[in-house]
Amino acid sequence: MTKEEILQATESFVKDELTGAESGHDWWHTNRVRKLALTIGAQEGANLFVVELGALLHDIADSKFHDGDETKGPARAKIFLQSFRVDNQTTDHVINIIENISFRKSLEDGPGFKSLELDVIQDADRLDAIGAIGIARAFNYGGFKNRIFYDPDIPPATDLTVEEYKNSNSPTINHFYEKLLLLKDKMNTAAGRKMAKQRHEFMETFLEQFNKEWNGEA
Ligand code: ADP
Ligand code: NI
Repeated sequence: MTKEEILQATESFVKDELTGAESGHDWWHTNRVRKLALTIGAQEGANLFVVELGALLHDIADSKFHDGDETKGPARAKIFLQSFRVDNQTTDHVINIIENISFRKSLEDGPGFKSLELDVIQDADRLDAIGAIGIARAFNYGGFKNRIFYDPDIPPATDLTVEEYKNSNSPTINHFYEKLLLLKDKMNTAAGRKMAKQRHEFMETFLEQFNKEWNGEA
């Protein structure tokens, strides 16, 4: 199979795997991460085949979709890639990427596996959590979880443990202070940092306007 055919087949596989995922993690999130990762990867001189495969597969490993089991997604991806005779080096690299990408994972273990291609995909995944799309995803997620969007009496909590982060029930606006506004300083690549800066400023503008409206000042 050519690389093009493998990527096509991977796209179909992932669309299938993500059927029914809540909309913050649906196929469109994956497709945005794929496009962003290719843009950043090209600027950073990464292996774009690994970047595209890793980006396409990055969320099927999410334990949310496997009853909390973090090994099922990578195992399925491995069997899938091997069925196309993708070479072992590429397969192992892609599996390492999807095992190591999540925010929770980095809270838990710190950086385990490292590669430029992982850095690029992680930047793309983080970028999709900020800016206009990030705002939309946050409020969508909050609604999905039946959370209120703001309560000035509940202050944001910083330095959350993994358990607290998973079980947090705080208003959606707090999520900006607990996670989204911190992401720009966690970017791995120069290209990612540049995009993050612009998206970050957009969120700050949004929050300023939100506060003014909340207080009847605008
Ligand atoms: P990841 O899969 O990237 O580790 P999550 O599954 O925690 O991240 O989040 C997926 C999306 O849902 C992101 O856009 C994130 O900002 C949003 N989200 C996660 N937790 C919350 C929350 N408590 N309030 C609002 N949005 C959230
Ligand atoms: Ni993702």
